[in-house]
Amino acid sequence: MIEPITVGEIGPAEVEPVTIVIFGGAGDLAHRKLLPALYNLHVDGLLPPQFAVVGISRRAMTDDAYRDFAKEGTERFSRRQREDGPWQTFAGSLFFQRGTIEDAATYQSLGARLDMIEHERGLPGNRIYYLAVPPAMFAPIIKGLAGARLIAAPGSHPFARLIVEKPIGRDLASARVIDEEVAAVFDERQIYRIDHYLGKETVQNIMVLRFANSIFEPLFNQKYIDHVQITVAEEEGVGTRAGYYEQAGALRDMLQNHILQLIALVALEPPHSLDADVVRDEKLEVIRSLRPIAGATVEAQVVRAQYAAGFEVGAPVPGYRSEPGVNPQSRTETFVALQVFIDNWRWAGVPFFVRTGKRLPKRASEISIHLKGVPPILFNADPSAPLDANVLSIRIQPNEGFALSIESKIPGPHVRVYPVKMDFQYGSTFGNGSPEAYERLLLDVMAGDATLFMRRDAVEASWQWVTAILDRWAARPDLTLPTYAAGEWGPAEADRLIESTGRRWRDL
Ligand code: BG6
Repeated sequence: MIEPITVGEIGPAEVEPVTIVIFGGAGDLAHRKLLPALYNLHVDGLLPPQFAVVGISRRAMTDDAYRDFAKEGTERFSRRQREDGPWQTFAGSLFFQRGTIEDAATYQSLGARLDMIEHERGLPGNRIYYLAVPPAMFAPIIKGLAGARLIAAPGSHPFARLIVEKPIGRDLASARVIDEEVAAVFDERQIYRIDHYLGKETVQNIMVLRFANSIFEPLFNQKYIDHVQITVAEEEGVGTRAGYYEQAGALRDMLQNHILQLIALVALEPPHSLDADVVRDEKLEVIRSLRPIAGATVEAQVVRAQYAAGFEVGAPVPGYRSEPGVNPQSRTETFVALQVFIDNWRWAGVPFFVRTGKRLPKRASEISIHLKGVPPILFNADPSAPLDANVLSIRIQPNEGFALSIESKIPGPHVRVYPVKMDFQYGSTFGNGSPEAYERLLLDVMAGDATLFMRRDAVEASWQWVTAILDRWAARPDLTLPTYAAGEWGPAEADRLIESTGRRWRDL
């Protein structure tokens, strides 16, 4: 058994002592993801010996109350159990500061508090500002920080870095406005835009699979690949996030960011190095090569739908329009399926079929690479029973791993061929202790490695592609929005989208 892998090869030596300031520090993201991730990094010995986390929010809270808030989040959401020993040292590094975002005094008192904490803890003043707040708050926070002179110049020491969360805008124009506001104060080299999918082990492994093995890369092109499927399915409904989701929908929420990044990783050319910008240049090239889907083509190649009432794991669940906070006439899509082509030499003519949705039968995210079939001769000579083509499937989550389906002879006196699987599972090889995406991403920001973060040009190129679809939807409110019963694999239109090309969605 191989020792469980922790977080890449970056060790504490490369991470300088740092103060992490979380705006929205008492919010959901901090509670569920950020504070538990920092705790796990601490237990793994990956945080620098000195660090401090300062949560900032409108709510009044003492440091002790904030530590309790972090403790509760860690107990509920951490991948490993909280233990008193390491918790005590970790909790001692957590602080809370109350403040309203619009008020200049907030930043003055934050600055004074940071100076004090850093002085007491022997921290050099490296700062990471994490904006775990809606994007409308980005500009006031950044202006406040700049006004109080809390932002070090790019390249200087101690450093200042900024982490922003999605959504960065709701279309190309609004994304540009946000990017401009951020760029007015921070240099691109200081900005880390999170797409948490890029921190997932299985997503990082896509490039390793392609470029650390000689078996796959020669096949990844239009000569050998028939098509690619990407499914990102969630069992959950909209939950308590209607306020955000009503304005977003599946295309903005999942496709503009996570799924376009998955496409980019499957399709990119081998970069000449693993340097952050070299890899990001190659991904951008893929996004820019996506064939635009605009005008009436949208109806032919994009299916959107909304979940109606149905059953999830045997229990009745309400339809989207009956969820708390959702407009009973809402036209927000909770499901999208589409077909897209990458117009470059490598992928010419290879369709990529994508589907994502909430309230699907299970949580399952997978990329499958479907190779072309063998010619209709020898073992494939019977037209009534064609052989299955080989499929390389990459399971992003759960049951992380990948599998290759291969035809094999069934033992016995007859020549009968049967598909078998070569299956690799992270759990059985590496143990189940893979770090959470946020652990890797936070560590990378501390180390100054931007490889797994979205560069401005990529965010805007993604929005540009997606905005053409959004524009068509906005222009045609008369078009019907199909529904699917909660617990089903989307509407019949999604099946027709792929079946009209002679292919079908993979059973997951
Ligand atoms: C987020 C979306 O980016 O990703 C959510 O806003 C979605 O709607 C989530 O549920 C899925 O993330 P994961 O890591 O659970 O696949």
